[in-house]
Amino acid sequence: MSHPTDPTPQVVVTDFIPEPLDIERHILGDFAQVTAIGAQSSSELDGRIESADALLVYHFVSIGRDVIERLERCKIIVRCGAGYDNVDHEFARQRGVVVANVPDYGTEDVADAAIALTLSLARGTHRLSHLCQRGTDNWTYELAVPLRRIRGRVFGILGIGRIGTAAALRAKALGYDVVFYDPYVTDGRDKSLGIRRAHSLEELLSQAHVFSCHCLLSDETRHLINCDSIDLMPEGSLLINTARGAVVDPLAVLKGLENGRLAGAGIDVLEREPPADDHPLICAWRDPNHPAHDRLILTPHSAFYSEEGLEDMRRKGSENVRRVLLGEPPRNVVN
Ligand code: NAI
Repeated sequence: MSHPTDPTPQVVVTDFIPEPLDIERHILGDFAQVTAIGAQSSSELDGRIESADALLVYHFVSIGRDVIERLERCKIIVRCGAGYDNVDHEFARQRGVVVANVPDYGTEDVADAAIALTLSLARGTHRLSHLCQRGTDNWTYELAVPLRRIRGRVFGILGIGRIGTAAALRAKALGYDVVFYDPYVTDGRDKSLGIRRAHSLEELLSQAHVFSCHCLLSDETRHLINCDSIDLMPEGSLLINTARGAVVDPLAVLKGLENGRLAGAGIDVLEREPPADDHPLICAWRDPNHPAHDRLILTPHSAFYSEEGLEDMRRKGSENVRRVLLGEPPRNVVN
C-alpha cells in the first residue's frame, strides 16, 4: 500500500476474490491501483487498508468501527453482495464514508433456484430418483401417487421485492395461480404483474399449495414461518426458503413433514450454516426411514450462485467505486 499522500487512488479488495483482479483492473486500472488482500478475518486487514480510497468487501471479513476508524481517506465501501450486516454502515455514515451494496447480482439465480426446488418437489423428481435408487422392485409411476397438476395450484410469495417478483413471473409462466403478501408494497403491484394480492399472512398461508419465502430477515420476519403458520397451509403443501434461514423455524418444518401438512420442503438457507450434525432436521434428513429423507431438499446457500452472478458482483461493485472516485454520485447506498 502506498503512502496516504500518493495521488493515485488506491482500491483494496479485502477478501474472497484473489489475484488476478482482471475485472476490477479492467474497470479501475486506468486511474487507480487495485490490490487484493485475500483476508480470512478482519485482523488480516491491519496495516493494509489505512490509505485506501475505496474498499471492495465480500463476506469473509467484518468492517467494524475499529477498521473504519483507521481509514484515512476512504470515500466508499462497497459490499459486493446483497447483505451488508458485516459493515458498520451507521458508523461509516458518521465518518462520511458511503456504504453501498450490489443488490441485484443474483436476482434471477435465486428465483431460478426457488423454482427448481418447487418443480422438483411438485413433480416428485428428487423423491422418485431416491426411491428408485433403493431398488427396482416397484419401478412404476405409482411411486409418485398422489401428485397434482401444477396449473391452477396456488404459488404463494412472501415478499414481492426483486427476487419475489422474478419468482412470480416464473411461477406464472408455469401455470401457477400466483398470490403474494407484502405489507410494504403499495397498491398496484398485483395489477402490473397480473397476480393476486393477499392482505394478510394468514390469507396467503391458507391457500398456498407452494409457499416461497422472499422477504428480508428482520425482527418482524424472524421465525415468521413456524408451527402455527404451517398448520394454516393446505394439507400436502410445499415450503420453499431461499431468503434467510431464520425466517423459517426448522423444527416446524420437521413437524410439518412428519404430520403430512408439508408434502415437501426445499431449503437453501439455515440459521446456522453449515448446520450442526446433531440438529433434529439434519438427523431426520439423513435417516432413510424418516419422511424428511426423500421430501426435504437442502442446498448449501447456493441459490445466489452462477458464474455470471459472481462477475456481476465484481463488475457492479467496481463500477460504483469508479463513479465515486471520479466525483459522480454512488448507486445503491445503504447508509
Ligand atoms: P428486496 O429488498 O428486493 O425484497 C424483499 C421484500 O420483502 C420487500 O418487498 C419487502 O417489502 C418484503 N418484506 C419485508 N418484510 C416483510 C414482511 N414482514 N412480510 C412480507 N414481506 C416483507 O430483497 P431481494 O433482493 O428480493 O432478496 C429477498 C431475500 O433473498 C432476502 O432475504 C435476501 O437476503 C435473500 N437472498 C438470498 C440469497 C441466496 O443465495 N439464498 C441471495 C440473495 C438474496
